[in-house]
Amino acid sequence: MFVLKDVCYSADGNQILKQINLSINQGEIFVIMGLSGAGKSTILRLLNGLIRPNSGAVIVDGKDISRASEKELTQIRRQVGMVFQSAALFDSLTVAENVSFAWRKEKITKAELANRVKETLALVGLSGIENKMPAELSGGMQKRVGLARAIAMKPQAILYDEPTSGLDPMTSNTILKLIKDLNQRLQVTSVVVTHDLAGAFEIADRIALLNNGEIIFVGTAAEMQKANLPLVQKFLTGGQGEQGGYHAAITRS
Ligand SMILES: Nc1ncnc2c1ncn2[C@@H]1O[C@H](COP(=O)(O)OP(=O)(O)OP(=O)(O)O)[C@@H](O)[C@H]1O
Ligand SMILES: [Mg+2]
Repeated sequence: MFVLKDVCYSADGNQILKQINLSINQGEIFVIMGLSGAGKSTILRLLNGLIRPNSGAVIVDGKDISRASEKELTQIRRQVGMVFQSAALFDSLTVAENVSFAWRKEKITKAELANRVKETLALVGLSGIENKMPAELSGGMQKRVGLARAIAMKPQAILYDEPTSGLDPMTSNTILKLIKDLNQRLQVTSVVVTHDLAGAFEIADRIALLNNGEIIFVGTAAEMQKANLPLVQKFLTGGQGEQGGYHAAITRS
């Protein structure tokens, strides 16, 4: 579904991504992890054409989008939905208006629109909140509405930027289950950026570890735990030896 070939990206004279090579298969749940500032969100932005690489190719569903026109990129952004860390809902619109934003130019009856909104909200486990405003919802509900808005476009792939950050552990688990469930039900490709190692191990088909703009590891959770690379080990133990944060996260899982 996605191939990055020798992708380099710089902004303001800083090299943020260095020679990234990555291939994400159709239908898989691909998790990207790495320390803050490693370049994870930048990769997501490249995958749906929000930014272009300085060099290299970004191939989405067989098309190199690094030189695509604005019009082609608009199409790509419909094919590849993005769920932002901050839910990014339109505060002055109701939940129903947020979810149906992608259909605003379609000629459908009010009843059909209401029906579609209801079905889409049901997919993310919400019902009866159509007329609420985003500010009236909890953080977890806002994230689900953000997810509903992304799936309303019927995308082929969904990109999630830290979908569980700021949520309590139970709500985080529900969101991770939802990501897995939607991946199967909608047969989409899912790319998830997260700091939650236990969660990543639970849902990922494969995990990539990004360090300082470079991919230092790609493989399954089991392969990651066995990987004998100093940087992978350092990441797993949070750089603090056996008691470190990420290590603790694994042993809890
Ligand atoms: N438009 C930009 N202009 C300048 N620097 C940028 C720009 N976008 C990103 N960066 C820098 O690129 C680096 C990677 O940013 P990115 O947001 O991809 O990191 P991240 O891995 O998602 O981090 P986090 O876990 O904190 O979200 C950071 O050092 C950031 O400051
Ligand atoms: Mg980020």
